[in-house]
Amino acid sequence: MTVVTNPAQKKASPAEQLDQLNTETAKLNAWIRTQANSPAQRPWFVDMGGESGAGELAKGRVAANQMKMLAHRWRWSEIYPYLQKISEIAGEAKGELLERTDRQGILLTNPGLGGRLQITNTIRCAIAIYNHGDVAPAHVHSPNASRTILSDRGGYTNVEGERCECRRGDIVFTPNGTWHDHGNDDPDPMIWIDMLDWPLMEYLDAVWVDQGYIAAQDAAKSNAKSQPAVHSDGHSTRMYGHGGLKPVFAPNQRGWGQNTSPMFHYKGVDVMDTLRALRGEKGDPFEGIKMQFVNPVTGGPVFASLDYCAQSLRPGEETGFKRETCSTFIVVLEGEGFSEIGGQRFDWVKNDIMAVPNFLWRRHVNTGKNDAVLYTVSDKALLTALGQYRSQGKNADGSITQIVQ
Ligand SMILES: [Fe+2]
Repeated sequence: MTVVTNPAQKKASPAEQLDQLNTETAKLNAWIRTQANSPAQRPWFVDMGGESGAGELAKGRVAANQMKMLAHRWRWSEIYPYLQKISEIAGEAKGELLERTDRQGILLTNPGLGGRLQITNTIRCAIAIYNHGDVAPAHVHSPNASRTILSDRGGYTNVEGERCECRRGDIVFTPNGTWHDHGNDDPDPMIWIDMLDWPLMEYLDAVWVDQGYIAAQDAAKSNAKSQPAVHSDGHSTRMYGHGGLKPVFAPNQRGWGQNTSPMFHYKGVDVMDTLRALRGEKGDPFEGIKMQFVNPVTGGPVFASLDYCAQSLRPGEETGFKRETCSTFIVVLEGEGFSEIGGQRFDWVKNDIMAVPNFLWRRHVNTGKNDAVLYTVSDKALLTALGQYRSQGKNADGSITQIVQ
């Protein structure tokens, strides 16, 4: 023990002595809790009240190990040129050795998460571009995933043998434990957004990936990169796309995952038609017209971890401020406007992307002449399952309403 070595020096205070001991105990992978390092015991987020509710970072040397996602917006006008560039480079390199020749993509990183490949604490997001002929070979993994299609047309995903032809606004789910492969047979490049609960599964140390499709499925198809199409495009809609009717002639378990949606392909045209048909409704003061993508068998979220929704805001519509204990990812499918998140204003147009951190006040405003449509992905499903989901709305007089759903 070497707390005080020189009697001529001013004796360290008890708090300093305790903290100095940490230089020794660190070698033992142990840490002494003291008054001096107490910020480490506080949560990162301290609600400071006020209009923004942006919270406050913990201070002190231990804060260096704390990370918290930040509100952020990725402008499509800034990301798209790089998608074009990587597409061109990959196209010109066809036949040469590239590290990855099957597809190209850009992963978004949240500025608050130290360069980790994630946009929220639970969600990874990649914007993928497939040139004509690109193929992502069949594989299966434990993280749940989805594709939100941005291109008007082009590209496909084969999920457990269901060939899903992609159109703008479609969402194709690849629940955990489903074999899937992707590609683009169309002449033009195709762009979609991949979203996965990969960071959550990494935190749980539960990520696994199997690329041994050939061995697992059929050794005779030794050259197969893709699964055979057992079900044609539209199978999900034919089976599950009629509200109130559930097929009972076939198993509704598809893939190895549990509590996941057997409906893989949700068509954008159906989502837009539904939102349009309901635009005359009053809507929710904090959300406008909002629809949830659900597991048609249970009525619950498509994954146990992630919740997917589509919402429309009519011209001039301004939602009230709302905050939720989940964090949320937003893609602007249609329209223009702005969102205020934690006291910051983010203008948005078509294809822009935003991240809303847990429990920051946010509101959306449609400043355009047409309906704005936002697609959202959040970890609300997970927080609800844990009993940790909570949301509040701010009324016009500044009072706060506990939102019960
Ligand atoms: Fe995958």
